[in-house]
Amino acid sequence: MAIEPTVAEIDIINPVPDASETLFEVTLRPQKLSEYIGQEKIKESLKILIDAASGRKETLEHLLLYGPPGLGKTTLAHIIAKEGKVGIKITSGPAIEKSGDLASLLTNLSENDILFIDEIHRLNKTVEEILYPAMEEYSLDIVLGKGAGAKALRLDLPKFTLIGATTRIGMLSAPLRDRFGMTYRLDYYEEPEIEKIIERSAKILNIKIESTGRAEVAKRARRTPRIANRLLKRVRDYAQVRAGGKITEQVAHDALNMLEVDDLGLDNNDRRILEALIEKFGGGPVGITSIAAATSEDAGTIEDIYEPYLLRLGLIAKTPKGRVATPAAYDHLKKPINKPLTKPLL
Ligand code: ADE
Repeated sequence: MAIEPTVAEIDIINPVPDASETLFEVTLRPQKLSEYIGQEKIKESLKILIDAASGRKETLEHLLLYGPPGLGKTTLAHIIAKEGKVGIKITSGPAIEKSGDLASLLTNLSENDILFIDEIHRLNKTVEEILYPAMEEYSLDIVLGKGAGAKALRLDLPKFTLIGATTRIGMLSAPLRDRFGMTYRLDYYEEPEIEKIIERSAKILNIKIESTGRAEVAKRARRTPRIANRLLKRVRDYAQVRAGGKITEQVAHDALNMLEVDDLGLDNNDRRILEALIEKFGGGPVGITSIAAATSEDAGTIEDIYEPYLLRLGLIAKTPKGRVATPAAYDHLKKPINKPLTKPLL
């Protein structure tokens, strides 16, 4: 039997934005590299890349950004456009269904514009193959008509920069990956960086928050700016309704407990996954599809959203035979270990 979600189920730690969050995110989005907190090495490298291309009046090379959701890939793409003083058009892999959709996007670009394709691993093969000559030679190969009378046509495109973003670098084909000049891996933020992001957001949104309150929110934000900002919003509501408007450590603590986000930043979904692993599968090893079935979650969602952070915290580990719960997971859920543990893959 599946372990059911609890009543208080709120997707508070899902790093994928929901539609209502877009405006909120845009308000908080840093506009310049100097305002962007964290990812220091990436910022430094990007600054050189952008300044060098601008200095030579060249088009910036194609860039691939990858890493878990919510870490700021889209934000970085906007900043690159601003810093390079070029236009940007935003789309995503699933939104480009037919070759014609991509052809229309490409032919509407201006010289040096950025085309940002989020979830680029979800492009279909036909569309992807149109990208190859577009990226390499700025040309668009189109076929007019069908069968024996079909005609191939090659159109020149404006010189443009493709910025691809993905949470799954492994799902990108080698020919596509190879066409990017630079690949950047965004990693989870350090907690002090998350605190700074909360400080900045609170200032923009006029939220009264003490430094200890900030630390409490940061501790539970999964090292992810999008989640930090979302928790801040929820804690602000709680402070306003229950505590006179100011976020102290106690207010943050109470609000986050009410949201069932624990002190490692885990929510009910994470705990259900760990519980299933321990209680249904004796701690593993077990495949992702079995975990998905036991928790009524989609396997892709577990892999994209929950697993990276659980791995990062060392609560689960990957072995050749599947996922295992580590002693830290038993400890966190206060469960006794009553079997020999499988050695994780190092
Ligand atoms: N908001 C979201 N991500 C951010 C970052 N890295 N720096 C500043 N503000 C942010």
